[in-house]
Amino acid sequence: MAQHISIPLKDSYKLFNHGPVSIITSAFANKHNIMAASWTMPLDFSPAKVAVVIDKNTYTRELVNASGEFGLQFPMRKIAKLTLEVGDVSGRDIDKFSRFNIKTFPATKINAPFIEDCIGWLECKVIKQGAEEMDLIVGEVIAAYADAEQFLNGRWHFSDDPLKRSIHYMAGGEFYTTGDSFTTESGYSEVSA
Ligand SMILES: Cc1cc2nc3c(=O)[nH]c(=O)nc-3n(C[C@H](O)[C@H](O)[C@H](O)COP(=O)(O)O)c2cc1C
Repeated sequence: MAQHISIPLKDSYKLFNHGPVSIITSAFANKHNIMAASWTMPLDFSPAKVAVVIDKNTYTRELVNASGEFGLQFPMRKIAKLTLEVGDVSGRDIDKFSRFNIKTFPATKINAPFIEDCIGWLECKVIKQGAEEMDLIVGEVIAAYADAEQFLNGRWHFSDDPLKRSIHYMAGGEFYTTGDSFTTESGYSEVSA
């Protein structure tokens, strides 16, 4: 299992401020599930909050409503195919963990499992069901972890190996890999005349 480090909750927004696609895990009683989710965002620094859109017809929503918690993690490119797969079929019909041979490890404060090969992991408890018709759920982040190899000194230093980088979902099975960072001081932000 890759090493992961605990992140201060007030810094947890940094794990996904760049807009990567996410995977939501859930559990209630002896049931557990996993789905892909593009529509997730940080909402506050402290207490740290996230907003996620979970369609009311999903099995995930059923388990999140029942348990009041969920795991939010950001997959590396090496599991892009898996991300599509868990977003294409419902856990009502199959156990996606065994069907796709998904490697999990336990979270610390929630019952939902985490999955490996992600850049960051958040443990969230539901604090508000948003506008019901928009399927918006607000969660408070109660624990946060990052890939120790790529999150150093409070910021991302993404690997040169594209398979370890986070990914951004477009549509129709198309992703973008997270690119290289720059600051305006580094001189690459403006087009020269
Ligand atoms: C890349 C990707 C992103 C997705 N993003 C979302 C999302 O943000 N919210 C949502 O409700 N469903 C989203 N979906 C669809 C769910 O993952 C899909 O409905 C899934 O089968 C639900 O599984 P479940 O019924 O086991 O919970 C996405 C699917 C894919 C492939």
